[in-house]
Amino acid sequence: MKKIISVVGARPNFMKVAPIYRELLNFKNNINHLIVHTGQHYDEKMSKIFFDDLELPKPDIYLGVGSGTHSVQTAKIMIEFEKIIQEENPNLIIVVGDVNSTLACSIVAAKMLIPLAHVEAGLRSFDNTMPEEINRKVTDILSDLLFVTEKSGLENLKKEGISLSKVHFVGNVMIDSLNYYLQKSKNSNLMNELNIQTKKYILVTLHRPSNVDQKENLEKILSIFEGFNQKLPVIFPIHPRTQKNIISFGLEERFKKLSNVKIIDPIGYLDFINLMNNSSLILTDSGGIQEETTYLGIPCITMRENTERPITVEIGTNYLVGLNVEKVIEVGNQILSGTIKEHKIPDLWDGKTSKRIVSIINDFLNKN
Ligand code: UD1
Repeated sequence: MKKIISVVGARPNFMKVAPIYRELLNFKNNINHLIVHTGQHYDEKMSKIFFDDLELPKPDIYLGVGSGTHSVQTAKIMIEFEKIIQEENPNLIIVVGDVNSTLACSIVAAKMLIPLAHVEAGLRSFDNTMPEEINRKVTDILSDLLFVTEKSGLENLKKEGISLSKVHFVGNVMIDSLNYYLQKSKNSNLMNELNIQTKKYILVTLHRPSNVDQKENLEKILSIFEGFNQKLPVIFPIHPRTQKNIISFGLEERFKKLSNVKIIDPIGYLDFINLMNNSSLILTDSGGIQEETTYLGIPCITMRENTERPITVEIGTNYLVGLNVEKVIEVGNQILSGTIKEHKIPDLWDGKTSKRIVSIINDFLNKN
């Protein structure tokens, strides 16, 4: 019997591990699969609700590390994860995405000579001010199996000198989840509760430090909301980081005064994909949402200077605009008046990525 440990820590990890978990169940006579949750995200609305929505079992092991500076959080995860690896001695560790939990567990795996698989390898924003970029580069250099979502990932890894024998272009596991749960998400009642109609609202998510950690930037976001205020309702499920900053900069009243903007608590996976699928336009700084909107054909304005997911701009529905008030409003108005660029779904974003990944992993385990 072989043993695999998959690591989850933060909200965007859960929908990436769920399809791999489901696929590995087909191998349960040969592979014992454990899920370790680092506790990077711990609020019910940032974590448990996703386990429920994605039908994931309770994590086998919960490290409970919580929040902290990057170094503190990474170090705490490493200390706790090392103990687990000593006890469990797995044959393979799977990490997904680019959060601090991904980085921390990758370093532990490499130091303890446990083979490491990185799902969503090779993405690069070429911007080291983004903590995720450092996490991606370190994780990739330490990985034995690198699973790539789009062609840019292959090119980046090649340029960095990573042996292409370790690299597999398999598609996008997050799209597996989207594909699998889209039908079920239609039972969501949130649109009724919010009193909004299909294709008659704008959905917003913003949580990147570059957008929400400075008062000046939050004020620009206020101006963007004001620019859209009389057009359509704006639904803004708010990340704890963003909420804390709005309060600490004394901007709460100004956000509340915008009559068409509904700020709501973070929402679960099924409610979110339903809101996304029915919206006219999304404004975001998330990585995953750029991909999900491309798959769904929903226009997405990305309020960042760069993206590690260039395929979503090249052939998808993504417009890379940055935090430029006039530009966001201008592009947004074009989209709302019906001008949308042509788009298609990237190669291998077909709902079968987890099958390809697990098949490669199974071969790897049989050889090692
Ligand atoms: C993390 C990831 C980011 C990902 C995002 C998705 C890193 C470097 N960043 O950013 O890539 O896009 O998750 O959400 O790993 N907090 C709570 N409750 C929680 C979790 C966090 O209140 O359950 C608050 C805490 O004040 C914490 C802050 O949010 O300090 C930020 O959390 P953290 O995990 O450090 O980073 P995120 O901004 O969530």
